[in-house]
Amino acid sequence: MATQSTHLHVNLQKRPAVVTGSSSGIGLQTVNALLEKGALVYGLSRREPPVEHERFRWLKTDLSLPAEIAGSFKTIKERETYVPLLVNNAGLGVFGDVDAITPEAWAEVIAVNLTAAYLCTREVVPQMKLHRTGTIVNVSSIAGKRGFKGGSAYCASKFGLNGFSEALMEELREFGIRVCVVNPGSTDTEFFDRSAVQPAKRMDPEDIARIIVSAIELPDNVLPDQIVVRPL
Ligand SMILES: NC(=O)c1ccc[n+]([C@@H]2O[C@H](COP(=O)([O-])OP(=O)(O)OC[C@H]3O[C@@H](n4cnc5c(N)ncnc54)[C@H](OP(=O)(O)O)[C@@H]3O)[C@@H](O)[C@H]2O)c1
Repeated sequence: MATQSTHLHVNLQKRPAVVTGSSSGIGLQTVNALLEKGALVYGLSRREPPVEHERFRWLKTDLSLPAEIAGSFKTIKERETYVPLLVNNAGLGVFGDVDAITPEAWAEVIAVNLTAAYLCTREVVPQMKLHRTGTIVNVSSIAGKRGFKGGSAYCASKFGLNGFSEALMEELREFGIRVCVVNPGSTDTEFFDRSAVQPAKRMDPEDIARIIVSAIELPDNVLPDQIVVRPL
């Protein structure tokens, strides 16, 4: 007979959380969903998010610049001794033939979509290890599981993020830290404003945010390591 689980659903009340790419789309909706659950949310982005809430604080950050990431986490750590939740969501797409993608555009995609996730992760991991708990959610993409024409830069960044996440999941699970990757398909956000590709079927960013928060709220002995979400 199964015994009663002693593991409780993760309670987000007053829990500090950092969300990157908080100014629009999936990141903005994740901020809203976490605030609804009672979390204290720090949003990192270049533009100010349209969020007015006593438990929200925006830190203007260009995530392609390591010094700005370090500066924002310095500010966060002056206020919070421990950040148990990080959502690495910021990202951009650059699409086109490989010989049309400039080295500058390539570098920006890798910096924001991949390197920033590593830099933010290393800011929170030491305290998570001490507390032997914490959750890191990386917002990757179906483009991180399957390459497509015109996607060389974007797919490279997202395959990289998926590889980083899988290795990190194995590295941190022995410390009680969960690493979860969410791989959405087409979602109706500003992401497509700069893209020549315009998918007909798109999901709502609120629904992706709901999935992210549901994964975070699972009991802390449950590790949802990869979630793929497609439009139906
Ligand atoms: N939309 C889709 O179909 C789709 C599908 C799969 C995966 N995704 C992924 O989902 C994530 C969120 O994208 P979205 O669809 O919500 O698009 P979005 O509405 O364009 O949001 C992108 C966010 O990333 C931030 N960002 C981009 N460059 C930045 C930089 N240099 N510094 C700081 N923040 C930066 C933006 O903030 P600022 O511009 O204010 O800096 C914005 O808040 C991305 O990682 C994307 O790859 C999207």
